[in-house]
Amino acid sequence: MTSRQPAVRTSAGVSEPSAARRATTPLTVLEVLRKSADYLAGKGVENGRLDAEHILSHVLEMGRLHLYLHFDRPLSPGELAACRPLLRRRAAREPLQYVLGSAPFRNLDLQVGPGVAVPRPETEHLLDALLEVTGRQWTSTSPVGSALDVGTGSGALALALADEKLADRVVATDVSPAALATSRRNAAEAGLEAVDFREGPLLSPVAGETFDLILSNPPYLTTLEWRSAAPEVREWEPRVALEAGEDGLDVIRPLVWAAMPALRPDGWVGLEVGRGQTDAVATIFREAGAAEVEVREDLAGRPRYVFARKAGTTRNAEASPNQSQTRKEPSVG
Ligand SMILES: C[S@@+](CC[C@H](N)C(=O)[O-])C[C@H]1O[C@@H](n2cnc3c(N)ncnc32)[C@H](O)[C@@H]1O
Repeated sequence: MTSRQPAVRTSAGVSEPSAARRATTPLTVLEVLRKSADYLAGKGVENGRLDAEHILSHVLEMGRLHLYLHFDRPLSPGELAACRPLLRRRAAREPLQYVLGSAPFRNLDLQVGPGVAVPRPETEHLLDALLEVTGRQWTSTSPVGSALDVGTGSGALALALADEKLADRVVATDVSPAALATSRRNAAEAGLEAVDFREGPLLSPVAGETFDLILSNPPYLTTLEWRSAAPEVREWEPRVALEAGEDGLDVIRPLVWAAMPALRPDGWVGLEVGRGQTDAVATIFREAGAAEVEVREDLAGRPRYVFARKAGTTRNAEASPNQSQTRKEPSVG
C-alpha cells in the first residue's frame, strides 16, 4: 500500500485497499511483509518480521529465500485473504507452529496444534549430545536394540530415533491423549507406524519391560518460570507439558527412579532439563544408582542435558562405592 492511496486498516495488519487500488495495484510480497511485521510487532510479537515471512511462505507455498527473490511479486486477493486469519492468530500470541500447523524436528516435519507441546531446537540437540556421550556407538548400521521416549508429545524424539534408524524398536509414552493422537498421526505421515505409542504416566505403560536407551524431554519449568513465561507458552501450550512444581523437578524425580530399573546393563538414560537443574538431576541419578553421569550443554553453551549409564555386566566395578551408599528412595513420585 502506498501512502498515496487510501486504505481501510483491518485487524489483521494487511490493509484492506480501496476499491480503486484493488482493481489496479495489488500489494507486493515486500509490502505485505513490511505491514505484517509492523502489525505483529505492535502486538508484542518478538521477531514479527521472521514470523510474517514464515506465514507468507506457507500461504504462497514457497521457501523464505524465494520470498526474497520475489519481493515485487503481487499477491492475489485470495492469497492476501489467506494471510489475514493466520496473522490474526499470531497477533493473538498463538505459537507460530500452531498457526502453521507443523514444526520441523531433525529430518521430520511434525504436525502440532493446541494440546501438544511445540518441539524445540534444543530437543533436537539432545540426540546429538547423546551420540557424543555414548561415543556414537549407535548408528543406522548398528542401532541400539530398544529405546523408550517418555512424554513423547508430538512424537519428536521417538520418531527421530526411528527415522534415523538409531534403534531397532521404539516405544513412547505420554499422559496426554491429545499428544498421543498427534504423535500417532505424525508416525503414519512419516511412514514410521512401527513406533509403539502408549498412554499413561511415566513408565507405567511399559511396566516390566527393559530398554537399552530411555530418552525424555519432560516438563521442567518451575511454577514461577511458567507463570512468567511468554503468552505463547503460558496461554497456548498445555501446562502439563511444561510445568513441574516449585523446583521444576516434580516429574524428573520419579522419572529417574522409574527409568534406572528399566534400563538394561550398560543402558543409557538421557534427559533434557531446565537451566540450572543439571546438578540437582545428576545427584538424583547418582542416588538412583547410576554408574556414570554426564552433563552436556545446549547450542547456547548452557548445561541442559544429563545422561546416566547403568552399570554393565562387565563394568559394574566402575560404580563408585559412594554411589551405592547414597542410594535411597525418592521423596516424590
Ligand atoms: C516438554 S513436553 C515434550 C514433548 C516432546 N517430547 C518434545 O520434546 O517435543 C513434555 C511431554 O510430557 C508429557 N507428560 C507430562 N507429564 C507426564 C507424565 N507424568 N508421564 C508421561 N508423560 C508426561 C506431556 O503431556 C508432554 O507431551
